[in-house]
Amino acid sequence: MSTGTIIALVVVAAIVLGAIAVFTTVRGSEVRGAGALSRETRSRDKKAAITSDGATGREVEAAARSTAVAVIEPAEVAPFVAPDEEAIGVSRRMFFNRTAVTLMSASIGAFGASVLAFLWKGAEGGFGSKITVGKIDDVIQNIRTGGGFLYLSEARAWVTEYPKGALSKGRAVYGSQGPVLTGMESGIVALYQKCPHLGCRVPECKSSQWFECPCHGSQYNRVGEKKGGPAPRGMDRFGVSVNNGVLVIDTGAVFGGPAIGVNTTGQEAEGPHCIGAGSGGH
Ligand code: FES
Repeated sequence: MSTGTIIALVVVAAIVLGAIAVFTTVRGSEVRGAGALSRETRSRDKKAAITSDGATGREVEAAARSTAVAVIEPAEVAPFVAPDEEAIGVSRRMFFNRTAVTLMSASIGAFGASVLAFLWKGAEGGFGSKITVGKIDDVIQNIRTGGGFLYLSEARAWVTEYPKGALSKGRAVYGSQGPVLTGMESGIVALYQKCPHLGCRVPECKSSQWFECPCHGSQYNRVGEKKGGPAPRGMDRFGVSVNNGVLVIDTGAVFGGPAIGVNTTGQEAEGPHCIGAGSGGH
């Protein structure tokens, strides 16, 4: 093949490739990417009616771009209807019922918690349970050291000596209170600090060797038998047990004090009174 023929073929090939490039560029500017509509299609769509009233796509688009303010027809106001009285009554009753049930539940819960706390405390020790005091000989020694009285705050009780010489009378009066008599036979009484009149704490009076209540002046001898004042009986007391020489006071049960006039020890005031004067019993 001659050189002139080769040059002719190269020129033809260059012309063909150039034509292809021009055609492709023109076609690309019309298509504008995949999925775009052709010019003819867009023109046809703009002229075609796309709504039931015959509006064209161009008109719909123009309407959508419009900045005109839409005017809303005033809404019709519904007439006022008075609420049903019966329905209101039911709601009110429901509210009160629920409130009552809630309050009652809270009260029952609080009461239950109190009972549990009380039982829990009783199981743990302290007032309401059996309280171990110590060896009975040491207890009696502490009473004497304390001037005739020993106060046990945990038991809320006074412990005093019961004279052996009064035991025969004591058995006749306190025979029905076995655990109380047990203490007397061991040489002691455990008296509840609470005044049987109106419940004040009754203190000892070292000078008279009695108990004398500051609230209304009730007086009791050293073993809690009433000597004067408005109290309806002698001081209430606790039962005790003595196991291997160890004194235990059971504060879980209170025995009522002796009747007015009971005086098993015959103890009179041994000095000046702390509260008023003994009336000698009512
Ligand atoms: S409370 Fe003790 S005399 Fe009244």
